[in-house]
Amino acid sequence: MKDASIRQAAELIRRSHSPVVFTGAGVSQESGVPTFRDALTGFWEQYDAQSLATPEAFVADPDLVWAFYEYRRGLIRKAKPNAAHIAIGSLEERVSNLVIVTQNVDGFHQAIGNREVIALHGNIFENRCFEGCGWMGIVDAKETDKAPLCPGCRKSRLRPNVVWFGENLEEDNIVRATAAVLACDVMVAVGTSGLVAPASQLPELAILRGKPVIEVNPKPTPFTPQATIALSGKAGDVLPKIFPPVW
Ligand code: OAD
Repeated sequence: MKDASIRQAAELIRRSHSPVVFTGAGVSQESGVPTFRDALTGFWEQYDAQSLATPEAFVADPDLVWAFYEYRRGLIRKAKPNAAHIAIGSLEERVSNLVIVTQNVDGFHQAIGNREVIALHGNIFENRCFEGCGWMGIVDAKETDKAPLCPGCRKSRLRPNVVWFGENLEEDNIVRATAAVLACDVMVAVGTSGLVAPASQLPELAILRGKPVIEVNPKPTPFTPQATIALSGKAGDVLPKIFPPVW
């Protein structure tokens, strides 16, 4: 990672009035929350995260999928926002029109105090009726070792309120995220593999509309060649350099 690229990225951010920070699982990786590309450990080593995060997996074995989400909730409950979340939080103090568009379901951006957070893939701590009776809420952790019956209809099971592979995003979230990208003057895409559509189309939209896009990722992604500035490194190392607390 060259100092000149860091300086150029910091300058783009400094001049920005309406940045969009687009985040993926890599931003929470330094908090100890594994990304969807990391191999699972312990009991979950035998499974692939992507094959558990589907409606088909839930139909086949609701308790297994529920237990997997309880495991992820446990990791997130124990974890704390890291230097990357803190750096993104600090940007809020200086730019009034900051929008965070995140694929993460852990709530760290909201916890750190970012006000405008569009959580494209939902919130892991909420649950809703699998059959869609409309019930949604938080279930006490003590009751949740098996997928509970929905308290609304008492027929279906509860599932986590996250978007699984093969499911649609909430339309309101897509509309708001697209509007934010169209209105932004710079996008920072950080910790995302760019492999999961439709979220992955947002940086492409920014590029198509001529917005500068800064990518932060330790590994190249399909999007790297199109980025205006590609910064190779961990979010917790790079973001504090391009979002410094004092200019
Ligand atoms: P992925 O798990 O697909 O990719 C994580 C990205 O983070 C990879 O490109 C890594 O190189 C990068 N990365 C790892 N450690 C990092 C670090 N310390 N700093 C910066 N980057 C780092 O995550 P997403 O792109 O968020 O969807 O994936 C999108 C969606 O796919 C997720 O929201 C989830 C997932 O499966 C659903 O559950 C529907």
